[in-house]
Amino acid sequence: MSIRSDPPPGAILLASLRDYVEQLREEGLEGPPAVESSAAPHQSPRSQTVGEPPQEPTAAPLAAASKAPADDDRPAAPPAVARASSAAPRSAPDDLFYLYPGLEKTADLAALREFIGDCTRCKLAPKRTNLVFGVGNPSTELMFVGEAPGADEDARGEPFVGRAGQLLTDIIERGMGMTRAEVYICNVIKCRPPENRNPEPDEVAACEPFLFRQIDLVRPRVIVGLGAFAVQALLKAKTPISKLRGNWQDFRGIRMMPTFHPAYLLRNPADKRLVWADIQEVMRELGRPLPSRGPRR
Ligand code: URA
Repeated sequence: MSIRSDPPPGAILLASLRDYVEQLREEGLEGPPAVESSAAPHQSPRSQTVGEPPQEPTAAPLAAASKAPADDDRPAAPPAVARASSAAPRSAPDDLFYLYPGLEKTADLAALREFIGDCTRCKLAPKRTNLVFGVGNPSTELMFVGEAPGADEDARGEPFVGRAGQLLTDIIERGMGMTRAEVYICNVIKCRPPENRNPEPDEVAACEPFLFRQIDLVRPRVIVGLGAFAVQALLKAKTPISKLRGNWQDFRGIRMMPTFHPAYLLRNPADKRLVWADIQEVMRELGRPLPSRGPRR
């Protein structure tokens, strides 16, 4: 199948500029008016209003979670700056799909993978070993979305196969009584950012339309957002993960449960109990029984 995949001239720049302007606005800085999407945001009536939960985040979990490094043996990236925001999250605007003409016509995950091809749409391309698209059941009711591949994932071309991935697998298998093959796992960014750094706005702008299409094609009942980066990318909000986690959100009509990233849990095992509570909530939503033993503590 040949589908034209070049973005219109300047489209990536425009998308990344829009994110930047929005970020300035959320930080309360003076600047040009935010570029609004034509699509109206829609929040589920049962969704949380961001900013409600009382717990103020500490800088450490925030920095760790928003970095979400794949493996602890890799160099730590500079700590992320915690930002409070009063802005409500909004769902992904539909115009993101049209960043790449023809993307909306991809009929299934195989067609989407073909559309992405040997991608050179952003500056991560020359450094990657493998593009990490996603794995699992294409018609699952449960989808996990992480940040970006790490070294192990880049080497194998599969998401969440390093240490953080082993913990995620444990959560899925022992905590939920499911298998990796039953769920779908992917990341916001499909190529590894070098030296474990945070993905940059232009990289997110170039890659997130693929995630949104992936979600539209799988159309799960529930998305589990792993860590600040993935959750903030899905919600287009800068609200700290420590405020969002445990509270249902809406992503284009799909229930989304934000929780901590497994890499954060490797460094903060005491917070596994919070993730366990979030996972139990997900299982309740799916109407699935909880296995008796739960994940390893
Ligand atoms: N961390 C992520 O966010 N994604 C992976 O695939 C691996 C580690």
